[in-house]
Amino acid sequence: MNIAFLNDEFLPIEECKISALDRGFIFGDAIYELIPVYNSKPFYLEAHLKRLYRSLEQTQITNPYDHLQWTSIIQQLIDKSGLQKLSVYIQVSRGVAPRDHAYPKNTSPTIFAMANPWPPVNEDMFSQGLSVITVKDMRWDRCDIKVTSLLANVMKKQEAVEHNAHEAILIRDGKVLEGSATNVFIVKNEQVITAPKDYLILPGITRDVVVDILRDLKMPLEERAASGQELQDADEVWITSSTKECAPVTTVDQQVIGTGKPGVVWKQVFDAFQQRKL
Ligand code: PDD
Repeated sequence: MNIAFLNDEFLPIEECKISALDRGFIFGDAIYELIPVYNSKPFYLEAHLKRLYRSLEQTQITNPYDHLQWTSIIQQLIDKSGLQKLSVYIQVSRGVAPRDHAYPKNTSPTIFAMANPWPPVNEDMFSQGLSVITVKDMRWDRCDIKVTSLLANVMKKQEAVEHNAHEAILIRDGKVLEGSATNVFIVKNEQVITAPKDYLILPGITRDVVVDILRDLKMPLEERAASGQELQDADEVWITSSTKECAPVTTVDQQVIGTGKPGVVWKQVFDAFQQRKL
């Protein structure tokens, strides 16, 4: 039984009922957050909550709780789940109102959260590496806000699945930005490159952790969007997210990257990442 939280109440997910007029359902007028939990402890909680508050502020959805209340809801979900390794998903929509595009007045947000078991681990992910395809980025230009209206991301991820690939890398104007649900890192001649945190990518928390690890390891990092050709010619490619951690990519559009095996730089970053989970 998956435990959930809906508008101040903890209950089994099957019992969560939301109005058909909820703006999250009607317009995708909602923001979300996903927090990985290891050993029953949320990983980089403060950074995730900071991003949640920013998403609310940028969309002008009322933040329903203070910091202590959010922290307590997340901890209660973890405790009630009985799991040690899980993810906590949080969604806040603008609330329920007659369908009209403009923001309604005096509507309270709908707050939904759930504790999800960690998805089964893909054993090959860290030993063999992942396959990705490149696709055209057809999203809007506020990709920095973590909104639930993810149809463009969903369609691109499906394209990857139909090509037997694990992820779709989004290219805009010839620039490698991020994956459909991940950030992207490239290594060339021991130089690491990742797209800057601007309006065109989601500022991934895992991305920040990896950037911090690179700093610790004294590895040079360039924050700029690489070209599609640089991606193809890279020695190593990695994708990062709260559920994939830092995963090596060994083929791009069916072309082998580097040696075709997870790279040596990736291995150092991966090992340091595992240490931070303890
Ligand atoms: N996705 N870029 C996009 C477009 C994402 O959707 C995500 C995360 C990331 C990585 O962010 P983080 O490291 O904070 O997880 C980058 C989550 C996991 C999801 O939608 O389920």
